[in-house]
Parts: sequence; C-alpha cells; structure tokens
Amino acid sequence: MTTYLPEGLVLGAATAAYQIEGAVAEGGRTPSIWDTFAHTPGRTADGETGDVAADHYHRVHEDVALMRELGLQSYRFSVSWNRVTPQVGPDGLGPVSAQGLAFYSELVDALRAAGIAPVLTLYHWDLPQALEDAGGWAARATAYRFAEYAAVVAAALGDRVELFTTLNEPWCSAFLGYAAGVHAPGRTEPAAALAAVHHLNLAHGLATTAIRELLPGARIAVSLNLAWVLPQTGSDADRDAARRVDGLQNRLFTGPMLDGGYPADVLADTAGVTDWSFVLPGDERLVHAPPDVLGVNYYTPTVVRHWTRERPKETADGHGDGAATPWVACEDVEFPRPAGPLTDMGWGVDARGLGALLRRLAAEHPGLDLVVTENGAAYPDVPAADGAVQDHDRVAYLHDHLAETARAAADGLPVRGYYVWSLLDNFEWARGYAMRFGIVAVDPVTHARTPKLSARFYAGVLSAGSLPD
Ligand code: NOJ
Repeated sequence: MTTYLPEGLVLGAATAAYQIEGAVAEGGRTPSIWDTFAHTPGRTADGETGDVAADHYHRVHEDVALMRELGLQSYRFSVSWNRVTPQVGPDGLGPVSAQGLAFYSELVDALRAAGIAPVLTLYHWDLPQALEDAGGWAARATAYRFAEYAAVVAAALGDRVELFTTLNEPWCSAFLGYAAGVHAPGRTEPAAALAAVHHLNLAHGLATTAIRELLPGARIAVSLNLAWVLPQTGSDADRDAARRVDGLQNRLFTGPMLDGGYPADVLADTAGVTDWSFVLPGDERLVHAPPDVLGVNYYTPTVVRHWTRERPKETADGHGDGAATPWVACEDVEFPRPAGPLTDMGWGVDARGLGALLRRLAAEHPGLDLVVTENGAAYPDVPAADGAVQDHDRVAYLHDHLAETARAAADGLPVRGYYVWSLLDNFEWARGYAMRFGIVAVDPVTHARTPKLSARFYAGVLSAGSLPD
C-alpha cells in the first residue's frame, strides 16, 4: 500500500558544524571543546578529528546544489559559536566576527535562492574552549553567554531563517560530556553533569526569550534525543529502572522547558549526587520559555532491565555508542542488546518507537508542533567497483521511519517535518569517520560527494510525495 505524505510535512536533511565544516583554523575561528577533545590522544577512534571533516566550509555552494538536485525542502545545520564570537570568555562575548557571520549568511542566502528552508541550530556541542576553561556547562555564566550569542545570530540571520533551534540533544552535552566523559569535554563528574543539565536548560530559556525580544515572529525549537524506554519485563524492578531512565533522559528536559519545573522523582533519585542548589529562585520561570516546536531526534529503542551483581552487566550502554554508562543514579540498570539486526553503531532498529514518542508528546503537550529533527542509521556502505553505494539497509530504515512519521501526521498529530541524519557522511564524534550516516558518500581523501541509493530513494519520495511499498 502506498503511503502518501501529508500535505505540509516538510522533508529535509540535517548536519552539524563540527561534523562537516573542517577549516577549523580559518575565518578567524578559535577552538571549541571538540577541537581540544579530538586532539587529545585516546579520545576518538583512530585519533580522528574534525580538522577537515567533509570540507563543507569550502564547498557550501556545491552542497547546496546537491540538496537542490535531491529536491530537499529544508536543511538543518548548526552554527559554530566560535566562528561568530571567537574571543568569547566567561565575562563577555568579545567582538563579533563579521567573517564568521558572513559564512552562515552566504549559506542561508544560497539555501533560500534554491528554495530550501534554512533551519538553524545554535548549539550542536561545540562549546568555545575558553568557556570550558571557566567551568563549561557546569558554570552558570555559560548560559548567559549562550543567550547573548543567540541574540547576535538572530539579529544577523533572523529575517531569513525559518526555524531556530536553541540546543541539540542537551542530554548528550551533559551526560556524555560531563558524566561518562566519552564526549567533549571528557569530564567524569556526575554532580557537574547535573549542573550542566540545569545550565543547558537555563541557556535554552534565556536564548528563547532573547530571540523573541528581537524577533517577535521567530519560530523556536529545541531538539531532544528523547528515549522510547521499554522495561524488559513487567517486574516492579524493571519498571522502576524504566521510570528512572525516562526521568533522566526525557523528563529532566521536557519538565522544566515545557511544564515549568523539574520532576520531583528525578530530584529525589539524584539527591545522593547533588542537592540541586545551582537551581536558583526564579530559574524555573526563566527555563520555562516553551518553544514553538519540539524537535525529536530518534534512532533506536531503549530497553532497560534491573541489574543485580549476581551476573555481569550485559551492556552498560544506554545511549548505544559503546561508551561507559553515563547514567547517574542508574548504576543498577542495564541496557540489554536489542533483538534483531543492529546498525553499525550497535543500535537496534524499531520504527514503532518514533510513532510512540510522537504520540506521547502530542498527548502530553497539546499545542506544541513536533518535528523529527534527526533520524537515520550508520551502515558499512561497502561501495561497488564503480563507487556506487547500494545502501539497501539504510533505504529500509528510512522508509519505515518515514512511514511511521507520515502515519502520525495523517492521524492528525501536529508533526510538521522530518530530517534525515545526515546529508553527508561526517565526523561521528568519538566514533570518527568509520560510522557513516550520510545519504551522500564523502570520499575520505578527495571529499568528492556521491549520492547513495538512499539519496535517490529520498529524492524519489520528495518528488512523488509518497513512499514506495
Ligand atoms: C545525534 C547527534 O545530534 C548527531 O550529531 C549525531 O551524529 C547523530 N545523533 C548520530 O549519532
């Protein structure tokens, strides 16, 4: 049965600055925590870095032409904070870089000229190193600097951007960066991770307010990697594990941003780690600046099970990227390997989770628009002799998740868009370049772009307005 895409469901592709731009020492850019982290021996696979990445900085026009050829309706990208305000420090932004802004301005203009709606993410994990040196997200001042930087970008590009996203996956910034230490800045301090959660939430609230003051008509989003959490059995212990994981990954962000306060059960669960005294009186009001759109990044289901020391932990890997557990107050939780084939990241595949999340969010937050701001899969992508990549596994993954999205929208849920992660093969953070998420292959040496079968599939969906069987 052909699945028709509902009218008004915008389809696009997504990327992030450090993962594709390269040119880290050009245009006046200064280092972010990811430059430092990637250049620290042992932190990333094979010591890989984003120094050159997909060389997008030098190929903006080629990439926009490629998007146009595929028929993309929208493109989600992120701005590198340290290109825009390279001298930022804990006390202030320093001068704005005209050259830094010009790069993004040119991109936005090229997109619009190609009829592609620009969706701009302000923070996709590349905190200026100078701010980390002053405490990073564990320090309150970082949230204020972020709001000032957001206002600079909004003032420069706001008239031409369709949607602003404040933060991308703040759970990863806080827990992978400050508790598990597998992402930049590589700290393993659980209390600092919870302080980072709060300061990221505060940053979202302050930036939303700052952008709205400047541009009353702006549409604002936040992208969260919300988990579809499934207890492995109906036992009380498994269900309680699921409640805690849901609390730490989902409600710790949706609670203050959308409902106006931190969930009491999560505060109680984490009382042994921190007293939350970094939440100052009035903060919950500042964080509660609800966005117009909730961005959902969904890849894989999260099955959880209560763990006892009687047996070895099957996996400590709640987020699926092979790292040590980032969980705070979840030491007795394990994440069993999901059933069925896994992606290259080791992640299970189950499109029903995306539909379930969209339905839950629509029910819990009426009036909020929903956009799937990331969805995709890493596969080995062995090229044929002629260089073509016949990524049937990715086509199947995208087909099923698009069908789930289309069904949710057809059922009347306010689902407004879907973005494939990713347009291009790119620097997959600590996992480096071996993890390929692109619908377009990027040659590691020449950086030549070659659309994969999945890009052709996506272009076909875009032109037909429906999914093939
Ligand atoms: C989430 C992140 O936003 C993105 O940067 C990353 O590459 C993908 N998921 C895949 O892991």
